[in-house]
Amino acid sequence: MTNLNKLEQWMSEYRPTEARYESMKYIRCGRSGVKLPAISLGLWHNFGGVDSFDTCRAILRRAFDLGITHFDLANNYGPPPGSAEMTFGKILREDFGSYRDELIISSKAGYLMWPGPYGDWGSRKYLISSLDQSLKRMGLEYVDIFYHHRPDPETPLEETMGALDQVVRSGKALYVGLSNYPHELTRQAQHILRRLGTPCIIHQPVYNMFNRWVENGLLQTLREEGIGCIPFSPLAQGLLTNRYLGGITPDSRAGKPHGFLRPHQITDEKLGKVRRLNDLARKRGQSLAQMALAWVLRCPEITSALIGASTVAQLEDAVETLKNVSFTNEEFQSIENILA
Ligand SMILES: NC(=O)c1ccc[n+]([C@@H]2O[C@H](COP(=O)([O-])OP(=O)(O)OC[C@H]3O[C@@H](n4cnc5c(N)ncnc54)[C@H](OP(=O)(O)O)[C@@H]3O)[C@@H](O)[C@H]2O)c1
Repeated sequence: MTNLNKLEQWMSEYRPTEARYESMKYIRCGRSGVKLPAISLGLWHNFGGVDSFDTCRAILRRAFDLGITHFDLANNYGPPPGSAEMTFGKILREDFGSYRDELIISSKAGYLMWPGPYGDWGSRKYLISSLDQSLKRMGLEYVDIFYHHRPDPETPLEETMGALDQVVRSGKALYVGLSNYPHELTRQAQHILRRLGTPCIIHQPVYNMFNRWVENGLLQTLREEGIGCIPFSPLAQGLLTNRYLGGITPDSRAGKPHGFLRPHQITDEKLGKVRRLNDLARKRGQSLAQMALAWVLRCPEITSALIGASTVAQLEDAVETLKNVSFTNEEFQSIENILA
């Protein structure tokens, strides 16, 4: 830390609570040495240049106080792209400077980041320069996990995996992960990475009650290959909560012009299911968000549920999930009936 960073940290009024490790559960990530909190926080939405800095800071402080040690970013998170890493970097410097060793920070490259042939997909050229940019934006010397964000159908898998191995060897990342890779490609990639001496420790796929693609081969592959799993959008971007039961409000993801969830995706059919799931969650004494997170966490392959939050209250609601993550067989069956 530079003297300026030390001064910024000293001036911050934030002091993390000493009780921060008392209630969170930490789960081993595949066959690696790392444990992740059962709930992790992603900065895809709500942390960009368009969002309130004070709210971003309040959410991150509360997260750390609740034992959330893992924050997930990517080069393109914003909007504008890159701004979530900048927001995070500023808060890290000002509030968390002395706690770097208590944090697992991830970033990714794989989607369009800058114009021309070198700012997208999976070449060594793109991955290495993108990580250098991410480190600068966050003010970090290394990330804990660096992911390839999506498979590239044109770049040889050996080149992309070689780039992941290179970032670890050069000290810019401690571990590597894959995101959105189908199961056969995950296995091939893992075999290459293992040969190189840098095994993939984590896979980041979408998984929630409305999107269960991982159940068709990916979870089994991850189990066999010793790779942890951190499902993203476990709340289906807010659909699997009470967010849209009263319509679409302007402060919701579907109500914002830059939100990835679009109003046409919130169909009457989906809302009908959400209402029935909401009733079931209430009978369990939980919010629907909590039941949806508990449902994802039920699989032994799952290391952590990677949520988003636009308010401190949403984050607190998510962490409360851990008080009840078990289901009766009848409850499982009711969920299957509703989703059918
Ligand atoms: N690897 C990839 O390709 C990929 C893709 C997508 C996401 N991700 C990662 O996964 C993270 C999470 O994704 P996500 O934000 O889509 O996850 P999510 O948890 O499914 O959705 C988060 C949204 O749900 C709503 N919400 C959360 N808790 C709530 C609660 N208790 N009650 C009511 N509403 C609640 C909020 O919506 P409002 O904003 O409307 O309040 C929040 O922004 C991302 O930040 C990113 O790190 C990765």
